[in-house]
Amino acid sequence: MEHISRERAYEILKKYMVGENYLQHSLAVEAIMKKLAERLAPDEVEFWGVCGLLHDLDEEHCDWKNHPEVHGPKSVEILKSEGVEDEILFNTIMAHNPDSGKRIESMIEHAIIAADPMSGFIKAIAQIYPDKKVSSVKPKSVTKRFKETRFAAGANREYMMHIERCGIPYAEFAEMALDAMKNFTY
Ligand SMILES: [Fe+2]
Repeated sequence: MEHISRERAYEILKKYMVGENYLQHSLAVEAIMKKLAERLAPDEVEFWGVCGLLHDLDEEHCDWKNHPEVHGPKSVEILKSEGVEDEILFNTIMAHNPDSGKRIESMIEHAIIAADPMSGFIKAIAQIYPDKKVSSVKPKSVTKRFKETRFAAGANREYMMHIERCGIPYAEFAEMALDAMKNFTY
């Protein structure tokens, strides 16, 4: 099956997402997903990235705070209105939000559930460093802080652990995600 191109995905993202923080988050999750794909699905690196890029597409178009279950389905609706037909992309976007009720079935779905909170977690850790830069963050901090449940409590530890269903231990995932976030420029 022919997947949506990265170029077209980015065009759609820019049309529906304006918040700088959201855009930055989308690009960070794209970078982490690509890094994971290099290991787990080497022929699908661009597509895994696109899933990361588009996973929060509806962020500014639905009332996810009061109705968490619409976050995901609304993105699919937007994509369909843009002429996109891609079941794997749709399933992955739905799965990234377990509140959507989508049953988690595949590796890419576990990967996105884990990658999403990890990007925010690394950003939060960077804030403790004097220069507040992701490039200063040590992999060991990402492992140590994981156990401090009150630190960056919004970064769902259980979701991040989904990476182990892909056969990647958490410590290794932390290193991979950090590497991905250090090498992407916004
Ligand atoms: Fe997200």
